[in-house]
Amino acid sequence: MTGRGRALAQVDLGAIERNCARLPKPLCAVVKADGYGHGAVAPAALAGGATWLAVATATEAHDLRDQGVDAPVLVMGALTREELRTAVEAGADVVAWTDEVAERAARVHVKLDTGMGRLGTKDREHALRLAAGPNVVGLMTHFATADEPGDELFPAQLEAFQAFVEQVGRDDLVVHAANSAAALREPASHFDMVRCGIAIYGMDPFHEDPAAHGLEPALSLHSWVAALRRFVPGDSAGYGRRWTAETSRWVATVPIGYGDGWRRGLSGNCDVLIGGRRHPLVGTVSMDNVTVDLGADTDVRVGDPVVLIGRQGDERILAEEVARRLGTINYEVTTGLSPRVRREHVR
Ligand SMILES: Cc1ncc(COP(=O)(O)O)c(C=O)c1O
Repeated sequence: MTGRGRALAQVDLGAIERNCARLPKPLCAVVKADGYGHGAVAPAALAGGATWLAVATATEAHDLRDQGVDAPVLVMGALTREELRTAVEAGADVVAWTDEVAERAARVHVKLDTGMGRLGTKDREHALRLAAGPNVVGLMTHFATADEPGDELFPAQLEAFQAFVEQVGRDDLVVHAANSAAALREPASHFDMVRCGIAIYGMDPFHEDPAAHGLEPALSLHSWVAALRRFVPGDSAGYGRRWTAETSRWVATVPIGYGDGWRRGLSGNCDVLIGGRRHPLVGTVSMDNVTVDLGADTDVRVGDPVVLIGRQGDERILAEEVARRLGTINYEVTTGLSPRVRREHVR
């Protein structure tokens, strides 16, 4: 057995720091959903030059305070009255688009919905009334298509938000709109602060290679070869006999499965790295294990390390590749790693 255990997400805090250092400033680091699955990364983001943190829920703000983080925190999600109380007790700013939240919060960022169609008020007159409140400290919006260069909604949202900011006409407010994609592609969207999530983790908001923007993936996912089997023609691996050996070969069992967030949609549909080489997953991903085709001959041994996301030798598997195979986005790949996957923070 390796020292790493069955499934381990290793998170390089130095990479998070360097990614933050590369992004525009002032930077609000978005650390919701347990840092997109990366664990407690707020101190690294702050060390990299972020001066604000953003989360989705009041509990996430409260947890940051429990961890001793005293930077400004923005709660961006919808809040019940009780959750709002928790956010205020945590000394967090909150995003508001209703009179009730705007009146009860200590510090408010008014959200105009310029086209995302999700949260925020679409009613410009209402947003202007909210923005006149004594506890208002910020104005914001959120882009729906910043990651799709050429899409018409992005410039239209930017224009609508710019017009709103001018109409409010206050220069004492923190104005912010850009997510990672907007921050990387459009300086006009930066205003007084950018709110970056995916990029601080070294993943690409455009779903290509993060290196194109000088970003380094912070998370790598590891397991180990727990068993080796000699298959003869006709032997099958996993539930449903979805894969059957046509020729004699070696098959490795690796103890990671959909219970860890290594999703069943990856059955017969991804590679892993063993001994510095790519090997295909074969058979069905089960809750706790996957099986890997090592070919007719192999020098792989029980106990060898396996990389599911990250580098081994000259080979590399990006979260973006896994996402493509699943028909999803890199955000979901790391955020979907379950609590059973131990997070190890290294530098
Ligand atoms: C309101 C808001 N701003 C900023 C972000 C950060 O987006 P990204 O991870 O694409 O940088 C998010 C994340 O979903 C968000 O909901």
